[in-house]
Amino acid sequence: MLQDDAVMGTNDDASICKRFAVQMGYWKDKYLPYFVRSPERKAPEISRGYFARVAGMKTILDQALKLFADCQIVNLGAGFDTLYWRLEDEGIHVQSFTEVDLPGVTSRKCHAIRSRKPLLQHLAANDNEVKFSTNELHAGNYHLVGVDMRQLSNLQGKLLQESGLNPSIPTIVLSECVLVYVDVASSAALLRWIAETFQVTVFINYEQVNMKDKFGQVMIENLKKRGCDLAGVSVCTNLQAQECRFIDLGWETSKAWDMNEVYHSLPREEITRIERLEFLDETELLEQLLQHYCITVATKGVKEEELKVLGFT
Ligand SMILES: C[S@@+](CC[C@H](N)C(=O)[O-])C[C@H]1O[C@@H](n2cnc3c(N)ncnc32)[C@H](O)[C@@H]1O
Repeated sequence: MLQDDAVMGTNDDASICKRFAVQMGYWKDKYLPYFVRSPERKAPEISRGYFARVAGMKTILDQALKLFADCQIVNLGAGFDTLYWRLEDEGIHVQSFTEVDLPGVTSRKCHAIRSRKPLLQHLAANDNEVKFSTNELHAGNYHLVGVDMRQLSNLQGKLLQESGLNPSIPTIVLSECVLVYVDVASSAALLRWIAETFQVTVFINYEQVNMKDKFGQVMIENLKKRGCDLAGVSVCTNLQAQECRFIDLGWETSKAWDMNEVYHSLPREEITRIERLEFLDETELLEQLLQHYCITVATKGVKEEELKVLGFT
């Protein structure tokens, strides 16, 4: 249980870092302050790293959304992610949007949604009935479920029965810095089940990579000291290992980019803009940081010509 507390605490770390980056102007997110009240100052390389992470995930998501007229999104280990509200503001209303996290996190998310009108009013639009429990919420196309992803049959019930996911609709699955906290046997069972169950699916995974070197080992040690084991780190050795894990588990295509590649593929004017926000003394440190994370895009049932639009160039 202690270990789960530390894992859930990684959501607070991520949200606090994102909150500070938003406050500094790296990207816009008017909903995040409803989940994280006060920002804490972070080093510029941390904010740039989060900028690359958020912009990278959104780049691939936007590409995938353009492919499918009608689709559903599952956000695994969503934490306090505000993507649902940001997409609605963009006029993107998917068939269903399901967020999954451990009950300790979803109960806090439920509470925040319940008590903040701007969050709740999106869900209650069109006279949708908003159904709450302590740690779950279902309203219109939005579903928030509290479940341990390592318990696959529970997760299956939450997604297919309680949230009504439809296996024959294109399904985009997001997992942003999550699988590394799950032991490899459990994440493998989950990835295999998704590939087998959903006819057309795109998986967008942000996770650690190159973890066998000195920098990676220090990262592992630091987290261990805080009681947080990276139970899934053994597949985070290099980009090839990240790609192969999906193919081995029944996915048809898989391609991984390290975050240096992602960062430099983002629109030049955006990079120029954010690099002016704060002075960064040690660019080497940022490069090292970016070298230790990657985005992998795996697909199943996506047509060959459609695959060309997915990725970073
Ligand atoms: C580093 S946070 C990332 C949160 C969010 N995706 C983001 O990027 O801001 C990892 C999240 O994964 C969740 N998580 C880890 N293991 C999980 C599991 N076995 N079942 C469900 N959620 C899990 C944690 O509770 C936490 O919210």
